Amino acid sequence: MIISHYEAEQLLEAKKKGLKSTDISLDLNLSRASVKIENDFFIFPDNQKLDEAQLKKIIKNDTSCFLIKDNSILKIQLFSEQTNKFYKLVPTKNAPTIEISGIRMHVTKEMTPMEDTKKKIGSIMPIKGVVLDTCMGLGYTAILASKYADFVFTCERDENVLEIAQLNPWSRELFNSKKISVLKAGIFNEIKIFKNNMFDAVIHDPPRLSLATELYSLDFYKQIFRALKKNSNIYHYTGSPGSKNRKINLAKNVAERLKTAGFKGIKRAHYGLTARK
Ligand SMILES: C[S@@+](CC[C@H](N)C(=O)[O-])C[C@H]1O[C@@H](n2cnc3c(N)ncnc32)[C@H](O)[C@@H]1O
Repeated sequence: MIISHYEAEQLLEAKKKGLKSTDISLDLNLSRASVKIENDFFIFPDNQKLDEAQLKKIIKNDTSCFLIKDNSILKIQLFSEQTNKFYKLVPTKNAPTIEISGIRMHVTKEMTPMEDTKKKIGSIMPIKGVVLDTCMGLGYTAILASKYADFVFTCERDENVLEIAQLNPWSRELFNSKKISVLKAGIFNEIKIFKNNMFDAVIHDPPRLSLATELYSLDFYKQIFRALKKNSNIYHYTGSPGSKNRKINLAKNVAERLKTAGFKGIKRAHYGLTARK
């Protein structure tokens, strides 16, 4: 069971009103369950109990999600000495996002992570056949692509991200859908294992340039081109780091490299570009 400040606020509000129970989400807005309110305790469906002080702590930490375990609350976050990065599941009114050292992996300005995902996927619809999702993250692009495709390969090189995704209720399908294969590897090398003309679409949603320069390189674009079927599309997130001018230059440089790699029909799309083989 996972809650954030949204649910903690609802529970305290229900107590204030003198209610004996209330329905809240225990899986970050996917479904609802009943929580009892008895003698200053909030009793969850599996009989775990939290008190008001614990809920107030959750409300104070409004950019964290909390796992309820052994009547305690645990922030879903971790620091890795290996990568020297801090990973955190961040709640929104809809699906959560993941922050890696303070950088959000979805567009959350004026939209939810799911709306962001729909726009990314929507820019290369119709999707069918076999899809490559280069950078898994919480897997929202892979999961949505799998609703249309026959099969989706998604790649994640950071085991800390995989650990957070395994706790996220919105990422469950990554690990139990027969239509999705999660590859625990870096896509720069992994793409070389795929056959020529194998994919009907590629979704390329990399971290910002400074964190993964190789995923913006001509060599990598040539590999994507090789692995894509003729007349098939790629969506490439180019993001919004830095100033407006830097944004434009990054998209322009990416477009030039995609063209050099052989892509045609390069167009601006939601926070990125689309192109065709
Ligand atoms: C912007 S997020 C992707 C978000 C994802 N599309 C989703 O829907 O949740 C980028 C992800 O790429 C991962 N990553 C970075 N370098 C990678 C590489 N070389 N190969 C595969 N994944 C990589 C990061 O760890 C991060 O989780």
